[in-house]
Amino acid sequence: MKQKCMVIALVSLALLFHSCAPREDAERGMVRVVFKHGMISGDYDEMQAILKGFERENPGITVKDEILPASTDEQHQFYVTNLEGESADFDVLGMDVIWVPEFARAGWLRDIGHLLSEKEKEDIFPGPLEAVTYKGRVWAVPWYIDAGVLYYRKDLLEKHRAAPPETWAELCGTAARIMAREKGMYGFIWQGKQYEGLVCNALEYFWGNGGGLLDGGKVVIDCPENAEALRFMRDLIVLYRVSPPLVTTVMEEPSRLLFGSGKAVFMRNWPYAWNIFQRPDSAVRGKVGVAKLPSFKKGMSASALGGWQIGVNRYAKCPLEAEKFVRYLTSPPVQKDLALALGYRPTRRSLYRDRDLVAAQPFTAGLYEVFMRARPRPVTPYYMMLTQVMQPEFSAAVNGIKSPEEALRSARLQMEHIMGAGR
Ligand code: GLC
Repeated sequence: MKQKCMVIALVSLALLFHSCAPREDAERGMVRVVFKHGMISGDYDEMQAILKGFERENPGITVKDEILPASTDEQHQFYVTNLEGESADFDVLGMDVIWVPEFARAGWLRDIGHLLSEKEKEDIFPGPLEAVTYKGRVWAVPWYIDAGVLYYRKDLLEKHRAAPPETWAELCGTAARIMAREKGMYGFIWQGKQYEGLVCNALEYFWGNGGGLLDGGKVVIDCPENAEALRFMRDLIVLYRVSPPLVTTVMEEPSRLLFGSGKAVFMRNWPYAWNIFQRPDSAVRGKVGVAKLPSFKKGMSASALGGWQIGVNRYAKCPLEAEKFVRYLTSPPVQKDLALALGYRPTRRSLYRDRDLVAAQPFTAGLYEVFMRARPRPVTPYYMMLTQVMQPEFSAAVNGIKSPEEALRSARLQMEHIMGAGR
């Protein structure tokens, strides 16, 4: 009997060990944390150096990072499939700002609210903090923040005596004038492919024209302000001809590459691109300015809130080590390193007063206001269903397949259905 108990105890111990010191590293007595994340761009070696920093500070834990495709929609697909299947193949995950309520509701995340003190919460930008909170509990820690900004060629604007545009009409005028005088230049590049980035772009035009998606629980997507804004996006290509038709096929990186090779006067993108433009081998080094996005009437500039959060898989094999890693990756010094090395903008507001950051990236201070005012996409567990309706409708309008009114009406009907079902 005694022997039997002993065997049972040993087996349980082995099982316990197996669950917190998993995978082949267990053989070397190490715990391995698997970190899944997307990487729009940037120097992979820099990211590796940051991960190595964690291993140095935490002997006994190794980190293996696994990169997902750049498109947020494809990453979402990966997580839904794997988490639905209760996959324990990864412990820590990078999440788009729009997913946390959905993942929390599905029970796929570990509650990690205890990783942030009240004081730290106050320091985090309000948008991302709201995005990681579901039913009063915190399910992820904001990692870096994004908001749409306008990149412009400082040198060309100076040469042609133009100021950074505050309205879309000014942008069209300046782009057309410079295109006429500088052969082979595109005017304005943005993300018009059928994917999440198109929704972010479109919302910025909607909001900048006084429109929106929801008013309380009511779907107001087919308001005249949105139709006018959507028509304008199409007109950038076919009427004003400042955007080439290829914008309807590009995501962030192809647009960044075009602008970065010196072929465009203006570009809408997230802040990450600035660092890349300043590299020694960049064709536009020292020639790029960043401004708020234009709007239809002056003073109505609106940026979509973007950014990525770090959470722990509910089925993680080593949740405590995973939490340690989340804490490290979102800590002030690491957020600072990520900003300097990769252009990932900190979610901690106090870093916007950091001397080294402001000196290395002077527009950092200007971004603070943009991030404070950035507008979230609807914060609901059903957001992915809403966007899957909007993406094809916006794309059809931008490509001239449907009129803006038709596309928005169709989107409203489907969205009402989703909202009704979700209630
Ligand atoms: C950026 C943003 C993210 C957004 C995506 C759209 O990665 O941070 O929030 O959904 O772009 O492409």
